[in-house]
Amino acid sequence: METSAGYSASQTIPSTSLVEEFGVCGRDDEKETLMKLLLSDDQSGNKISVIPIVGMGGIGKTTLPQFLYNDDRVKQHFDLQAWACVSEKFDVLRISQQIYESLTSDAFFIMNLDLLQSKLKVALMGKRIFLVLDDLWNKNYTEWDVLRRPFQFGAHGSKIIVTTRNQDVACMVCTLEAHRLRPMSEEDGWLLFEKHAFKNAGVGAYLHLEEIGRQIVRKSNGLPLAIKSLGGLLCSKLTVGEWESIYIEQ
Ligand SMILES: Nc1ncnc2c1ncn2[C@@H]1O[C@H](COP(=O)(O)OP(=O)(O)OP(=O)(O)O)[C@@H](O)[C@H]1O
Ligand SMILES: [Mg+2]
Repeated sequence: METSAGYSASQTIPSTSLVEEFGVCGRDDEKETLMKLLLSDDQSGNKISVIPIVGMGGIGKTTLPQFLYNDDRVKQHFDLQAWACVSEKFDVLRISQQIYESLTSDAFFIMNLDLLQSKLKVALMGKRIFLVLDDLWNKNYTEWDVLRRPFQFGAHGSKIIVTTRNQDVACMVCTLEAHRLRPMSEEDGWLLFEKHAFKNAGVGAYLHLEEIGRQIVRKSNGLPLAIKSLGGLLCSKLTVGEWESIYIEQ
């Protein structure tokens, strides 16, 4: 879905573990809660915990694990980390390959799932692993079961974060309660908008744009994808008139 402001709710570029240029705005409670879950033992006794992050498109599901993935405490806590972007087409071979490559930092072209899973098993054996499976849509339990099989060889305390728009997918994969992501607060939304609209320089030199800027943020209903895209669009149009016309179009 492409809007007049030029942002799209469906992702076409695969996600990576790298955090965006200006970092992660706000979400302090969510970061804290997820960090605690990652660094603590699963009280339910599962060897590998699966934590789903659920929410609508563009709400910031991928951004949170990107932040966690790059945090030094997480890097120190886990022996191995891997990032795989799944998306709509669920192909166990392709995803296993992505995981293997991410774990070993090596390109690995192999079409044999048995060999690939055996290699994964060896790589994961006894290691505390942190895996991010970004953008999972598949509700097929059997396929999920095959994908996660090598992970049972990881050490106790290993964690998998799954991001998904779908509550049923979250229920299927979770061993810990799913984390539902809410819209950003208005103030965090404004911080995000400010960074993009004024190229990280703050509203200081453009105080005449603050009021209409805040109205634009309010109308974005806490959706970071919309806020960021509008900020990026408006940074080249620094007049009240142009901002007002975008506000009306919104
Ligand atoms: N807290 C945040 N701080 C800064 N930027 C953010 C924040 N949350 C989201 N964004 C930005 O908003 C955009 C959408 O976020 P993200 O990709 O995480 O959404 P999503 O929920 O994973 O969407 P989808 O369901 O389409 O995968 C991204 O460009 C991201 O960089
Ligand atoms: Mg995403």
